[in-house]
Amino acid sequence: MKFSISASQAASSLLLASNVVNAQLTLDLTQTDSIKQAAKQAATNMFNYYTGWRPGDVPGNLPAPYYWWEAGAMFGALVDYWYYTGDDTFNANTTAGLLAQVGPNRDYMPPNQTKTEGNDDQGFWGMAAMSAAEVNFPNPPGDEPQWLALAQAVFNTQAPRWDDTTCAGGLRWQIFAFNNGYTYKNTISNGCFFNLAARLGRYTGNQTYVDWANRMWDWVGSVGLMNNEYHFFDGTDDTLNCSQVNHIQWSYNAGVFLLGAATMWNITEDDVWKQRVDGMLKGTSVFFKNNVMFEVACEPNGKCNVDQMSFKAYLARWMAATTKLAPWTADTIMPLIQTSAQAAAKSCNPGAIGATCGLQWTLGSYDGITGVGQQMSALEVIQSNLISKVAGPVTNATGGTSVGDPSAGSNSGQSPIIFDEITTGDKVGAGFLTTFILVGILGGSWWMVA
Ligand SMILES: *[C@@H]1O[C@H](CO)[C@@H](O)[C@H](O)[C@H]1NC(C)=O
Ligand SMILES: *[C@@H]1O[C@H](CO)[C@@H](O)[C@H](O)[C@H]1NC(C)=O
Ligand SMILES: *[C@@H]1O[C@H](CO)[C@@H](O)[C@H](O)[C@H]1NC(C)=O
Ligand SMILES: *[C@@H]1O[C@H](CO)[C@@H](O)[C@H](O)[C@H]1NC(C)=O
Ligand SMILES: *[C@@H]1O[C@H](CO)[C@@H](O)[C@H](O)[C@H]1NC(C)=O
Ligand SMILES: *[C@@H]1O[C@H](CO)[C@@H](O)[C@H](O)[C@H]1NC(C)=O
Repeated sequence: MKFSISASQAASSLLLASNVVNAQLTLDLTQTDSIKQAAKQAATNMFNYYTGWRPGDVPGNLPAPYYWWEAGAMFGALVDYWYYTGDDTFNANTTAGLLAQVGPNRDYMPPNQTKTEGNDDQGFWGMAAMSAAEVNFPNPPGDEPQWLALAQAVFNTQAPRWDDTTCAGGLRWQIFAFNNGYTYKNTISNGCFFNLAARLGRYTGNQTYVDWANRMWDWVGSVGLMNNEYHFFDGTDDTLNCSQVNHIQWSYNAGVFLLGAATMWNITEDDVWKQRVDGMLKGTSVFFKNNVMFEVACEPNGKCNVDQMSFKAYLARWMAATTKLAPWTADTIMPLIQTSAQAAAKSCNPGAIGATCGLQWTLGSYDGITGVGQQMSALEVIQSNLISKVAGPVTNATGGTSVGDPSAGSNSGQSPIIFDEITTGDKVGAGFLTTFILVGILGGSWWMVA
């Protein structure tokens, strides 16, 4: 009787098999409801990390180890969630979070963040507000800052930071000279500005924003932060007049420029922008393995930090959004979003607080590496499959209801603002970052995080 198994053994091995099957998030891309259900699972678990709604906690902040910018990115993902699914479960907290962090000048420069806030950090909050305007996310009460005006305020504070003293222009990473990273001109800071300027130009019809987007595009190419294959590199040191580039590639840099360029095409319908969009789409192949998105610089060697674990969220978000602005791209983009979403679902483990998603979609299974960034990435890539079911981004002339203010944020200027004394701990933390950057530059590493 060696090969016979008892009824109870058979039952338990069946149970085991069905557990294994159920241990992946169900996602049927042919069914709208299945996509919505899966998105809800990923969103629920992501929101579970957020504590800002609890009495005594600070609305808009994520607990450590998440930096302030990632909360802004998360609210951007929740704006998208409502846009794609119509489910308003998280709307009130999203509005409260986006409004709590605007700071006294209503420009996403809250004094609490002065010690760490860079142009990219501010940019992520600004882009979340911009998305809210574009998808007609419910407007805040009239006495509160409005989505469009917040995006304009971020633009208005950043444009005067354009820095001609080195590298013939561009934005520095850091806003304040006392923060480490002030001498680094990084691609994501400049990319956020490009993305925001293009979208403000489209939404408002104001040519000034479009001119700034063009200026930024030209500068990024001129210093080699983007090459002829439309690969975007991490950044460049202004103490060397940007003569050397740190060649690490991050998916969010590719994404932030892709959507900006698609927006520029949508505004101008100029073939120059079409060619750029097509070139950039080819350039994103660096971030796909067998048509599944991955963070090439740090996933294969297991060195992604907390920030980097969220980057796929933005590439997915902005690739999907690109199909609305430059419609011919859908044929290339959607198959990649589909295979990536299917793979992401396999990396998620459903449970009582929604699905817990891992980092590496290329594995085909849950890797146990969890966090806000992983949840956000799975959420964005899954809900992006609903893009053909929703309207494109509005403008002021085509149904947009957000109230703008062209001079929002202008009076905050560069004047000193009150901040806590910088502690030794902060300096040490930021010093690590600089060391990392220098290693990256000196090592000249092309693909991998050192
Ligand atoms: C925010 O989310 C928490 C947890 O789900 C909920 O209890 C609270 O009512 C929400 N706050 C608002 C303003 O909706
Ligand atoms: C800033 O920090 C203080 C002290 O920790 C806190 O009370 C306040 O709510 C914070 N404000 C914001 C907008 O984060
Ligand atoms: C610094 O770099 C810019 C941009 O590449 C270039 O135009 C300028 O001539 C350089 N300045 C010096 C002093 O090398
Ligand atoms: C266009 O935008 C610029 C830059 O913010 C602003 O100075 C100008 O007033 C705006 N023009 C209009 C008509 O809103
Ligand atoms: C520009 O984007 C809008 C919004 O998605 C879309 O309706 C429009 O067709 C696009 N323009 C072109 C020329 O494709
Ligand atoms: C936006 O549209 C509204 C309503 O049509 C109009 O009153 C307002 O002047 C427009 N604003 C801009 C900046 O074009």
